[in-house]
This record gives sequence, structure tokens and C-alpha cells, in this order.
Amino acid sequence: MAHDDSVFPVSPPEGDPAKPIVQAARPADARLQAADALLDKQQLLSEAQRIAQIGSWWQDRSGRLVWSEEMYRIHGVVPNQFAPSADTLPTLIHPDDRAAVRELLVAAFAGGAVAEFEFRVLRPDGSERWVVARTEGATDPEGKIGHLTGTFQDITERRKAEVAVREAAARYRQLFDANPHPMWIYDPATLRFLAVNDAAVGHYGYRRDEFLGMTLNDLSAPEALPSLAEVKREEQDPHQGALWQHRLRDGRLIDMEIVAQTIDFEGRPARVVLAHDVTERRRVAKDVLDSRAALRALMQRLRSAQEDERARISRHVHDELGQLLTGLKLDLRWVEQRLSGTDPPMALHALLDRTVAASELADQAIVAVQRLAGELRPGSLDQLGLAGALAQRALQFERASGVACTLDVREPLPAMAQTVSDDLFYICQEALTNVARHAQATLVRIELRSEGSGLRLEIEDNGLGIDPAVVTAWRSLGLLGMRERALSCGGILRIEKASPRGTSVVAQVPLAQVPQ
Ligand SMILES: Nc1ncnc2c1ncn2[C@@H]1O[C@H](COP(=O)(O)OP(=O)(O)OP(=O)(O)O)[C@@H](O)[C@H]1O
Ligand SMILES: [Mg+2]
Repeated sequence: MAHDDSVFPVSPPEGDPAKPIVQAARPADARLQAADALLDKQQLLSEAQRIAQIGSWWQDRSGRLVWSEEMYRIHGVVPNQFAPSADTLPTLIHPDDRAAVRELLVAAFAGGAVAEFEFRVLRPDGSERWVVARTEGATDPEGKIGHLTGTFQDITERRKAEVAVREAAARYRQLFDANPHPMWIYDPATLRFLAVNDAAVGHYGYRRDEFLGMTLNDLSAPEALPSLAEVKREEQDPHQGALWQHRLRDGRLIDMEIVAQTIDFEGRPARVVLAHDVTERRRVAKDVLDSRAALRALMQRLRSAQEDERARISRHVHDELGQLLTGLKLDLRWVEQRLSGTDPPMALHALLDRTVAASELADQAIVAVQRLAGELRPGSLDQLGLAGALAQRALQFERASGVACTLDVREPLPAMAQTVSDDLFYICQEALTNVARHAQATLVRIELRSEGSGLRLEIEDNGLGIDPAVVTAWRSLGLLGMRERALSCGGILRIEKASPRGTSVVAQVPLAQVPQ
């Protein structure tokens, strides 16, 4: 085989070992200055190659190959232990890339334009490096390519990064394509869809190509259509959890919760959207709210009907029964006076005694009727207002239970609707009953004051304290009734353990609902 035409693999010519450039560049004569300068240049070049991880090489048609220092490093070999040549080079090239490298060299020697070429170097220790090769041919006097010069650049790290980026992109693509929720990417400038996933196609009923010919506005229900300006404003900040009404291809309206984020899509800014159909969830939530509101309204009506009924019975008992008994009492008094005014015969003495006894019974009946009427509806509420009624109730409570009870009303109190004073009174009454029944307290403090734009009523005892589980369950009727009354005034009710011990019931109702 003629060395001239053999490119690779080929044996280096006998007795003519290729000399590394470094050796060739060593000063060999007495002109030391020039030699030193040359050496400096050589060192500079070598340093630069090491930093850039670029090695340079030279090869002629006979297979002679000369390497710069960096070439040895890239291939993982030591200069005086490895002699580069067209013969030895293939042992340092990955078997899968050897044929391609050979073709490249053949093509370069044939004068063809050789583009950059990437392949793997296989080091003696078994590790692989990716390199990019570039080469240029030099023409001899016969017009043929006599030798090639070129570079190898170690691009292993870049390749690794590229692979990582490709893998990440594939993973994100998978996240997009296989996501069970509709997802799309749109151009914020035109609102045009740039990509949609299968779930979006399935959910909205548009084919992918139809989607890609549409804009975001085509999805929005006309009545809920946001202006383009609005959408553009929202770009600034990912409108997390925004709710949009969309129309499906078949015309049905759906509620979509949208999470959007600006991303770089094929080199330009775009918005990626994850949409979650919350139509059913919102319908159920609305049903629950509606039925809760209906229940509350019903309870309120029941309570006010009950209140009216109590007031009516209370009036009847007080007015009619009370009047009748008072009439009876007056008659008995009259008879009593007639009988006792003169000196009655003995037979009438017994009658007088009976009359006095009946009169006493009538007195007792009148007191009983007044109490009954008061219990049915505390007249004190209408006559004394909330503060007065509470004072009376506190006194009764203290007498009946033996638990000391203080009332602190910070006057002046704002005017309030009768329903509000009724509700606060009954909350206090239930709280006091609970103290008497459950707390084993020695002291109760009631405080009523205006707070901000509302009223605040607190009943605090120093007893055993309430079990928080009972409060969070909101199942027992007494607590539920208190809370419902506070809610029906548009307020809230809190029941907590008091400090250091006992229970605190706080009702806060807004004043806005209280007519002045
Ligand atoms: N001031 C309090 N101190 C300690 N425990 C309390 C207090 N108030 C309520 N509790 C506890 O909370 C429970 C629920 O109270 P709630 O008023 O709802 O029901 P009740 O008083 O047992 O019955 P009722 O339906 O007749 O009111 C009580 O059974 C009691 O265990
Ligand atoms: Mg109770």
C-alpha cells in the first residue's frame, strides 16, 4: 500500500517518527533570545489550548500525525508513552465512530469541504469524551492536498448540559401532553393558541387544528369575555386561581379555574395555562350555601313566629287572665270588707275566713300569672331595653343559682333593632343557664359594649371550662341556638376557654344592620 494515498489506518514511516510540535519548537541553536521568545510563544499557545480545551494536530498522506500537548490530555494519554499516528489513532476513537472519522479524513484529503464533526474519544481508562473536530487541507505543488491541519475541542460538558436540557424538555413535554387537566400555551400579544394538550382537546371538544386557529377569546363565554387589555394587564402577574367562564364547542358553559405562568416558548415569551374544571364543585358548593341560607331563613322565621306566639300568649295571660283575676280579687275584697265592717253573726265568720283565704289565693294567682307572662316574653326587654333586661336577668340568676354575677354595660349603647336586642338577650340567657348547669363557677361577668361599628356581648365564668371538641362539633342545641342568633344578626359567636379558667362566650354583631 502506497503511503501517499493511505490515510488511515496506516503505519508511520520507519525511522521517521512524528515529532510533537512542542519538540519541533524547542530552540536548537545559539540564538538564545529568539529561541526564548519562540519558547514563550509556544508556552502561551499551549496554555491557551489547555484553558480552551482545544488541541491542534497535523497529518500528512503518509499517516504521520503530530499532536499539540492538549491533544494528549483530551485523549487521556501521556506524550512519551503514546505515539500518535494514523495507525494508533483509531484505538482512541469510540468503535461506533471510527468509520465516520475515517470517512471524514478521506473526504478532507480528497479536497472536499469538511464541516465540523462531533464524535467520541475512548480513553485508555475506558472513559469517553465528546470532541468536535475541525480541519483544513493544505495543497501541495501538484494541486493535491498534502497535509491536513485541524483542531479537536473537548465538548463533553456542553454535550452533557445539552442532554440534560433535552431530557428536561422531554419531561416537561410529557407533563404537558399527559396532564389530565386541560393545558395550553398562548401568545400573550395575540391571545392565539400555540399548543394544546390532549386533555384540552377532549374537554372542550375542538380538534387540535381548530384550537390552533383560535384565540383565548374564542373560548370565553361572550357574557364573560374579558377585554384584551385586561388579559394583557394580568400578564404582569400570574393570575393564580383566577376563575373564567368558558364555552365548550357544543355550547355548554363551564367554570374553569386557571393558573398561568409566563414561559419562554420556542424563543419568545408565552403563557402556559393549566385549567381545572370547577363547574361541578362550584355547583355543589352553591347548593350547600343555598340550602344553608334557606335553613337559616327558615330557622329565623320559626324563631320570630315563636317569639310572636309567646308575646301573644304572654299578653293574653297578662291582660286577660290578669284582669280577670284582679276583678275576682276586687270582688273578694269587697265581700271581705262588707263582712268585716259590721259585727257579723257567727255564721258569717266562717264565710269571712273563706273569703280572706280566697283573696290570698287570688293574690298568689296574680303573682303566678305575672311570672308566667314574664317568662314567656320578658316584658323588661320592651320596657327597659337590653341593658335593663340584662340587669334584671343577672339579678334573678344570682338569686336563683347563688353564683355571683356582675354586669358591665358601657353606655351609651347605640339604638338597635328589636330582633338584635332579643337575640343578644337570649344568648345571654342561654349562656347563664349553661353556667348554672355545667360550669360549677363562683363568678360570672357579663359585659356589653359597642365595639367598632357593632355591639359586643361577653359572658365569662370562672368555672370548669368548656371542652373544645364540644364547641368545634357545634352539635348541641344550646350552643347552636346561640350561634344561629348571632349569625342571623350578621354577626359571629365565639366560645372559648377563658383565662386562667372558665368559659367565655362572645357575640359580636355589626351595627350596620341595626337601624338608628
Ligand atoms: N359555661 C360552661 N362551662 C362548662 N361547660 C359548658 C359551659 N357551657 C356549655 N358547656 C358544655 O357544652 C355542652 C353543650 O352546651 P349546650 O348549651 O349546647 O347543651 P346543654 O346545656 O347540655 O343542653 P341544652 O340543649 O338544654 O342547652 C354542655 O353539655 C356542657 O358540657
Ligand atoms: Mg345549654
